[in-house]
Amino acid sequence: MIAKRLFQSSIGRKTVVAVTGSLLVLFLIAHMLGNWNTLIGEEAMNHYAHTLQSMPGIVWTARIGLLLLLIVHMALAISLNIENRMARPQKYAFTDTVKATLASRTMVLSGLVLLFFIVFHILHFTAGVIDPETFHIQDAKGRHDAYRMVIYGFMNPYFSAFYIVAMLILAFHLSHGIQSVLQTFGIANRQNMETVRKISIGLATLLFVGFSIVPLLIVLNIISLPAGG
Ligand code: HEM
Repeated sequence: MIAKRLFQSSIGRKTVVAVTGSLLVLFLIAHMLGNWNTLIGEEAMNHYAHTLQSMPGIVWTARIGLLLLLIVHMALAISLNIENRMARPQKYAFTDTVKATLASRTMVLSGLVLLFFIVFHILHFTAGVIDPETFHIQDAKGRHDAYRMVIYGFMNPYFSAFYIVAMLILAFHLSHGIQSVLQTFGIANRQNMETVRKISIGLATLLFVGFSIVPLLIVLNIISLPAGG
């Protein structure tokens, strides 16, 4: 009953989009911090990847949870977008505190590009379909060599460029998405709009820099394999 009402009303769907979006951002922050193991070195990265792989129950629960979050987030966001397009533009003129920007008008497009990135990324680093040769390497301790997989992957400038551009689109999506979530939760109002805008752009920029630093340092050869590696 509650679920039915939540999905039927536009404010209910907005709330679900905001909650699922917030949970996806929490995943991104955790993923970015995990990726920084690459900056520490081979042992840190492979230990981290191995620890995750040795907890299949938790990993599969997280995978299914993430997939459900993504499906619900995208389906409801697209349905709200279609509804808003059909409604008269004046409808929200007095209630929306967030200004219509290029990012806000292209949320569905940037979201679909990110979906394409996620599919590519899983085929690349999780399924090993894109670059099987570097996926099946083992380190000296017989573990999956996630470190070498990432280094070899980003030594290819096309892959690095693709990931960095994808992270730019992610930041663009989040620069509006975070403001929108704060508005839905009633945290943003006319008085604090400028602060909310700065926080959203700040967090989006942090994620852009935090994710891009890995491919960037590798393609610039600042992080590289030891000689003969
Ligand atoms: C430069 C940016 C990124 C890098 C270097 C990176 C790196 C990685 C690596 C190395 C793995 C495999 C981990 C392992 O083998 O244990 C992975 C998995 C994954 N990444 Fe990323 N990632 C990046 C950005 C993203 C973004 C922006 C998203 C989401 C929008 C994302 C979503 C995922 C997901 C869903 C998995 C699969 C987890 C699993 O099922 O095992 N990644 N990433």
